[in-house]
Amino acid sequence: MARSRRPLIAGNWKMNGLTADALALAGSVAEGVKQAGWADREVLICPPATLLIGIARAVKGSGVLVGGQSCHAAASGAHTGDISAEMLRDAGASHVIVGHSERRTDCGETDAVVRAKAEAAWRAGLLPVVCIGETLAEREAGRTLTVLETQLKGSVPAGATAARLVVAYEPVWAIGTGKTPTTAEVAAAHAHIRRVLGGLVPDANAVRLLYGGSVKGSNAGELLAADDVDGALVGGASLKADEFLAIAKAA
Ligand code: PGA
Repeated sequence: MARSRRPLIAGNWKMNGLTADALALAGSVAEGVKQAGWADREVLICPPATLLIGIARAVKGSGVLVGGQSCHAAASGAHTGDISAEMLRDAGASHVIVGHSERRTDCGETDAVVRAKAEAAWRAGLLPVVCIGETLAEREAGRTLTVLETQLKGSVPAGATAARLVVAYEPVWAIGTGKTPTTAEVAAAHAHIRRVLGGLVPDANAVRLLYGGSVKGSNAGELLAADDVDGALVGGASLKADEFLAIAKAA
């Protein structure tokens, strides 16, 4: 892992958390991060939108960053049930996940939609974490690298730079399943992603590439040590403070 790329450990809480437990969880993460005093890595939590304001307040001063899980491409308007990047920013977010495979599947988000959301993030002053990843069928058909390339080219907006972009590689079949690719497979995917980014951003070598999919305390050390892995996007294990902190420690 190149020193120029500061590791980012991001927790994606998905649709989990009611106020009391969520504040307790965020408080424990904040306390752990504060005690560890890490200057060499970043820790981000992405709670459901209803909890953003409360959690942003609760972790203030701890160094923990707060992000959204998705945003609409427009700044405001007649989009019932949606939340804009500006609203996330207003609630205390600094980051937003875009193109998570659950959004691509549940909400039919295409690469073009993801790209528009990443642009919206920039407009609002947020750092987008653009997610890509192959399905099991695509992997078994030997199409992983092609799929990643297509998703990247379609999802990363023109004008991206390392300072304005984080990419998360999340094999769909590894999300929430307890299965992970081998470190060699992760390294191969990340190397390919960085190669493709070379044609899309001027400083591809400095873009942070996160791995996501069944990361936990016990496998984080190995996964995070793979070449070109600059952090993790963590789902299930981010709902337990000690697990999440163990992953951050491994970074
Ligand atoms: P998981 O989810 O860690 O529960 O596999 C990862 C993600 O969806 O970001």
